Amino acid sequence: MLQVARIRGGHVLRGSVRAAGSKNAALPLLAASLLTGETVTLRNVPDLSDVRYMAEILGHQGATVTNPAPGVWTIRAEKVAHRTPYDLVRKMRASVCLLGALVGRLRQAEMAIPGGCVIGPRPIDLHLRGLEALGCVVTVEAGLVSVDAARARGATVPMGGPMGSTVLGTANLVMAATLTPGVTRIECAAREPEVVDLCAMLLRMGAKIRGQGTGVIEVEGVASLRGCDHTVIADRIEAGTYLVAGAITGGDVTVTHCEPAHLTAFLDKLREAGVRVETGPDFIRAHGRPTRAVEVVTEPYPGFPTDLQAQFMALQLLVDGRSPITEKIYPARFMHAAELQRMGADIAIEGATATVAGGRPLSGAPVMASDLRASAALILAALVAKGETWVQRLYHLDRGYERFEERLRSLGADVERLPASAPPKGFAED
Ligand code: EPU
Repeated sequence: MLQVARIRGGHVLRGSVRAAGSKNAALPLLAASLLTGETVTLRNVPDLSDVRYMAEILGHQGATVTNPAPGVWTIRAEKVAHRTPYDLVRKMRASVCLLGALVGRLRQAEMAIPGGCVIGPRPIDLHLRGLEALGCVVTVEAGLVSVDAARARGATVPMGGPMGSTVLGTANLVMAATLTPGVTRIECAAREPEVVDLCAMLLRMGAKIRGQGTGVIEVEGVASLRGCDHTVIADRIEAGTYLVAGAITGGDVTVTHCEPAHLTAFLDKLREAGVRVETGPDFIRAHGRPTRAVEVVTEPYPGFPTDLQAQFMALQLLVDGRSPITEKIYPARFMHAAELQRMGADIAIEGATATVAGGRPLSGAPVMASDLRASAALILAALVAKGETWVQRLYHLDRGYERFEERLRSLGADVERLPASAPPKGFAED
């Protein structure tokens, strides 16, 4: 059923919220479970539509998938099909991370190529070039990529592209290399914590990997991998989103069960903006309002994450002065700016830079979520807008935030999820 969120602004958020498991770690970990015929148990898996969809795809590939308790999934892939049709891939771009698992396990794969999405074109040329560097024969025809890895051998693979490293491209290469004979050296590897978590699970399964978390990952192929029990890392993007929710309302929010070191660049920017930030071994507290305009540039990890850009833009709306935000990952990821403008924001976009002229009052409006992080940003802005905001297309939010409005409510927000027919005349989607 289509749903909308109604937010009534003006409440100060206080309290603590527990970080869920990371979506962007969980998706490749689910894919990696196809690398063995033994049972893989994953814990701390977030309850999200993207996760449920990935589980469904694994079922289509032939795995037996169960969800015996909240946050726990088991996957047993005794037999695996090498084909993944467009019907399965088109709904979720991240399903591309099955490619490396299929190549590793079966030495062949045939997968529909996922299209772009609202945040940009999102090519997979680097994934394919990486597999070719291993000696795979890669052919693209009629929207399908076929990979024949019969002759694949470890090799040096430069994974850098015009935007730097690729997260899922690195994940695919690591997965393929675990069961490819010889030593694979991935240069310009993604250093994201989600890639490190994938390597941690693969090590538990018996893979030989070193260098994870640095720009060069080396994988020595082994003959087979075994089952394992692995706990997914905390979602750094979700944690950052709740910290912005606190700061934007001038409140006091603590996120528990998270890894502060994964958010260093983001926390530095919060502090620079004047928000008070304290960290402990597994918690982050942010309190007080932002007071200063700051410049943000999104970059691969350990830089400021593109997945927190929209939320930080919402925060910058409060501050007098000009805050330029430059996207170095997805130069066109500014769809949320137009919706924020409908709430009274002043944002000028030139090329890959959006400049926020902050300090204008925001007022509630009907707005449209264009993607996952944009939907969170609109809800954050609505927390401080005068009156009611109705956020449409909430299904984007459900891809990556577990019970978002419920958790915001527990911090004191007035947020309600309602049927799409609920908004008053003029506020409903056509
Ligand atoms: N790129 C290429 N060629 C490729 C692959 C990527 O040019 O073959 C470019 C992309 O177009 C982009 C840049 O390289 O400009 C980085 O893209 P990357 O491959 O790192 O993105 P991804 O792995 O497809 C993951 C996350 C995204 C997140 C990005 C960047 C998952 C499931 N998705 O995507 O998460 O924005 O890394 O950090 O892990 C989200 O959660 O909202 C989300 C979009």
